Amino acid sequence: SIYPISALILAYLCGSIPTAVWIGRAFFDVDVREYGSGNAGATNTFRVLGKKAGIPVMLIDILKGWTATNLAFFIGVSTTGAYNSAAYINYALALGIAAVMGHLFPIFAGFRGGKGIATLFGMILAINLPAALVCVGVFITVLLITRYVSLGSIIAGFTYPICVTFVFPMYIRSVIIYGMCMCLLILVTHQKNIERLLKGTESKVNLFKRKTT
Ligand code: G3P
Repeated sequence: SIYPISALILAYLCGSIPTAVWIGRAFFDVDVREYGSGNAGATNTFRVLGKKAGIPVMLIDILKGWTATNLAFFIGVSTTGAYNSAAYINYALALGIAAVMGHLFPIFAGFRGGKGIATLFGMILAINLPAALVCVGVFITVLLITRYVSLGSIIAGFTYPICVTFVFPMYIRSVIIYGMCMCLLILVTHQKNIERLLKGTESKVNLFKRKTT
């Protein structure tokens, strides 16, 4: 088993893998941060390079959050308690947050990363699966109705603390506090999106592109 601090660094490095930047550069010779919203995330990769790049970026970014949050379980970290104990979950939260920080400020891409939605989703998948699934449902519903990814992310983010408090309670105060902080973080990373949403200039996604000939 390794020291807790080493695992936190490992989680940060895992989150730091700049999937959008690397896939864009490797297969399309494009840095997605120079186009669209300028964000190094799955949404902007979809926007700039299409689903062939967007889907792998989304899946890998989700996997980063999920893997980092489960790191204590996978590699064994001294001092954390039994799986599902409060001590274990608190530490899992710390690992997940370290990965999200890596995604936002990636050491491998000049500290200019994404907004953390896919990585946060991977994290909550590992913490509370039913609540994570409700959040996906809310995200997809908002996306289908409004065609704004950012609005889906924000509303799904608010759904999480409600779910862990009332719908699928964890009975662990730190998870509820984490959920609330997660909302604030999403509001901070989506400031520009919120401004555009209010101005009506936020870009919509074409969910069902019909070819016009
Ligand atoms: O996943 C981030 C999403 O909520 C917004 O991304 O590129 O539209 O700013 P973007």
